[in-house]
Amino acid sequence: MKRREIFAGNWKMYTTLSEALELVKGIIDGLGNIGSREVIVFPPAVNAREVVKACGGKISVGLQNMYHEKEGAFTGEISPVMVKDAGARYILIGHSERRHVFKESDGMINKKVKAAYEYGLEPVLCVGELLEEREAGNSEIVVEAQLRAACEGISAEQMKKMVIAYEPVWAIGTGKVATPEIADSMHKSIRKVLAALYGNDIAAMVPILYGGSVKPDNIAGLFSPEDIDGVLVGGASLKAKSFLDIIHVKL
Ligand code: 13P
Repeated sequence: MKRREIFAGNWKMYTTLSEALELVKGIIDGLGNIGSREVIVFPPAVNAREVVKACGGKISVGLQNMYHEKEGAFTGEISPVMVKDAGARYILIGHSERRHVFKESDGMINKKVKAAYEYGLEPVLCVGELLEEREAGNSEIVVEAQLRAACEGISAEQMKKMVIAYEPVWAIGTGKVATPEIADSMHKSIRKVLAALYGNDIAAMVPILYGGSVKPDNIAGLFSPEDIDGVLVGGASLKAKSFLDIIHVKL
């Protein structure tokens, strides 16, 4: 079975409402026929509803973060119910900036994954090692531990709706992209962990995206290996032209 191909743009803390709408328009205008490829954008939550409307079903929308509780006295947080209510389909969980800047633990990330399924959102779970962990030869061990912790208590049936993004922390926003060989070997090791947890059939279904300094000039190499099913793009997704060049790779 052919796996889903996903091209996602994480806008992080960029774009005002007018910039967001202009960006969506630019992407839709240039999209053309992309076959079965799926495009997702992750705008700042405050503009979610308008972005969903502007995407008009041609582009999927996810949000970048949420708290795991349904509601409550959690000043500044947004709940899975609110994410769903805004029209988002996906939720990014465990992005390295959440893990390292905001100190989210594996336990918190697991609660968020569970909450995503409970409220009908599809998680895009991010995993990835730090530079020192790679240099110590521990990349696979670190990513396996992140994966096992995040998926604790998640059923095989739920995993069918999971998307995983491998984002090595040393490649995010640094211009230092992983080689296709590194990315592919990490994706293979992720799929092996999924197979150990859920069996080969489920493992073969889950799309694994690469993220970290993806640009129009390196996408062709990254989108070649059999285990890279798409990309999660930061900086280069903020301009319609460069995001489109990435989406249109080898069409
Ligand atoms: P850059 O593409 O800017 O390196 O960001 C990657 C990322 O963090 C996507 O979630």
